[in-house]
Amino acid sequence: MKLKDKIILVTGAASGLGAATAVACAREGGDVFLVDRDSAGLDTTSAEVRKLGVRSGSFVGDLGERQVCFDAVNAAIGHFGALDGLCNVAGFTLFHRVCEVTAEDWSKTIAVILSAPFHLSQAAIPELIKRRGSIVNVASSAGIKGTAYTVPYSSAKAGLIHMTKCMAMEFVNEPIRINAVAPGGMLTNIMRGMTFPDGLDRTLIARYAGIRPPADPAEVAHTIVYLLSDATPSLHGAIVSVDGGITAG
Ligand SMILES: NC(=O)c1ccc[n+]([C@@H]2O[C@H](COP(=O)([O-])OP(=O)(O)OC[C@H]3O[C@@H](n4cnc5c(N)ncnc54)[C@H](O)[C@@H]3O)[C@@H](O)[C@H]2O)c1
Repeated sequence: MKLKDKIILVTGAASGLGAATAVACAREGGDVFLVDRDSAGLDTTSAEVRKLGVRSGSFVGDLGERQVCFDAVNAAIGHFGALDGLCNVAGFTLFHRVCEVTAEDWSKTIAVILSAPFHLSQAAIPELIKRRGSIVNVASSAGIKGTAYTVPYSSAKAGLIHMTKCMAMEFVNEPIRINAVAPGGMLTNIMRGMTFPDGLDRTLIARYAGIRPPADPAEVAHTIVYLLSDATPSLHGAIVSVDGGITAG
């Protein structure tokens, strides 16, 4: 029961890694507050979590808007009276050639992948410091390696990695831990729904697709639970790759 008596907010909790993280937190005794724009998916995850006997709450909204991020954190604190963990999981990927990326694609990607974790952190940090809590950002191997056809996404994930380290430094004297996981491929809706532009060079994609099969999101969720737990108080400002070796070479 690594998260007993802890209250954890998970974004992107309607599917994939966010849903797996919510369930993994609940299995470790954590109460969970689930956030996503997909209310039907949130209902499914809430039902799963309740079967595990923990308390839960939820909030539906588009995290691409700053105020929604603040509202989500305030709703969690209002619901449970406290907050011990923030998991920034929500995200999406688009495949495009650079010159075909629209202004809207670019802004939406930066808003959801980079700005939302920043705004959610701004809202949560005062409470997390009070509770000696923790933030876990979900980055990507695409934020470490250069990747063709996902330039806005990969640039935003690289920004999220640096943001994790910068926030870790700013709060290095406070009782809060801030880390990130960087998954490679996982079998989720993002991977299942990938559509590629015609005629792209598949040898470039193979370079960052990896050699091992994609991970089960439950495996990455275990790593997130570990980072949220009090098992390693010195783990701060770390980027933990869970990518089957993609970024090793
Ligand atoms: N699947 C992979 O191969 C892979 C690899 C590396 C990193 N990641 C990262 O893992 C995280 C989880 O993705 P996943 O693979 O579970 O995909 P997923 O599509 O199953 O889950 C993403 C969730 O985020 C939610 N979401 C997206 N935009 C939102 C918004 N504006 N407001 C609120 N909710 C929003 C979606 O509704 C969905 O429930 C993402 O940050 C993704 O970039 C995924």
